[in-house]
Amino acid sequence: FQPRPLTGKKVIVTAGGTKEAIDPVRFIGNRSSGKMGLAMAKVARDLGADVTLLTTVDTDLGGINIIQVQTAEELMKHLQDTFPETDVLVMAAAVADFKPINVADQKIKKNDDEDIFTIKLTKNPDILKTVAATKDKQFVVGFAAETQNLLTNAEKKLASKNADVILANNVAQSGAGFNVDTNRVTLLQKNQQPETWPLMSKIDVAKKFWDFYLTR
Ligand code: PMT
Repeated sequence: FQPRPLTGKKVIVTAGGTKEAIDPVRFIGNRSSGKMGLAMAKVARDLGADVTLLTTVDTDLGGINIIQVQTAEELMKHLQDTFPETDVLVMAAAVADFKPINVADQKIKKNDDEDIFTIKLTKNPDILKTVAATKDKQFVVGFAAETQNLLTNAEKKLASKNADVILANNVAQSGAGFNVDTNRVTLLQKNQQPETWPLMSKIDVAKKFWDFYLTR
């Protein structure tokens, strides 16, 4: 038995976009495919970690404990249960900031007299912030999905969410962000200069991240 670099480490990765129900057939979602999170999970597994993947995406990856979730609330509940025993949390999921206040029991019917239909939303919990506020030994990695002012916004998230690292991606750039096989990320950590990595496959981003984690 040859120990690998992450042998003995418990890693939780979240992946995919949350789905917040409007009624039994509709939801509010986003464009996340789960590819970035899945890559982080696969590379951690290959390096020997004990990996749990909390995901909204239907997937079956050998050697990874997969838990299917749909909503931010479910994600939060699983994380609150498992975070205390975790060594590294990677929050690659695109979590809805808001959800419908009321979920209709039956499919909502359109009303021929009204052209405008309003859905009232309420804030979801900030999962990363809530969970990371309880951290002691855990290493916490968040992502920042931005379409403008990448570094300023990502710096704010690094500070406000109590993360050790933020991987910021400009999701408006081609070849980066949602639903593509490549990404261009900038790694931010407290009291260090941001490090921008070139455009590369999401698997290579994950390899570079875990290499950073192991050699930091
Ligand atoms: O899944 P892919 O198609 O491969 O796309 C990858 C990705 C673009 C989704 C991924 O690289 C990424 O950026 N994930 C984070 C998306 C996001 O929700 O970013 P944010 O800037 O809104 O949130 C910042 C951080 O807080 C994230 O780690 C997020 O998981 C977390 N968060 C956000 C809102 C919330 N209510 N709770 C949270 O924990």
